[in-house]
Amino acid sequence: MPDNRDKHITISVGYEGELYTIETYPNEYRSLMMLIYDKIGPEDFGDCLGMGRCGTCLVRIIESPGRLSCFDRNEDTTITRAGISDKTVRLACQVEVDKELDGLQVEVCDK
Ligand code: FES
Repeated sequence: MPDNRDKHITISVGYEGELYTIETYPNEYRSLMMLIYDKIGPEDFGDCLGMGRCGTCLVRIIESPGRLSCFDRNEDTTITRAGISDKTVRLACQVEVDKELDGLQVEVCDK
């Protein structure tokens, strides 16, 4: 079984005025939401555990060097229901953690 641990992914996450640099590797976390939840633990983040329905895992994409892979579960509906038209805002639970995330910069959206 291949070991992905040497394939480092570095992402930057802004949250409440702090900038966090996080290292991971492919498939360490199921989604960007799970990674942010585990490493930073924003309050009330990821309430539906990744079903794409609660809208509590909103992040703004600041810089994305790679093409994001997404699960596409309810994302458009949930973001529209939240009244957000900014196309740089995504549900972190729908973003897969793969090598395309290397160099990603995001900001956790205010509630
Ligand atoms: S965790 Fe609920 S929409 Fe992402």
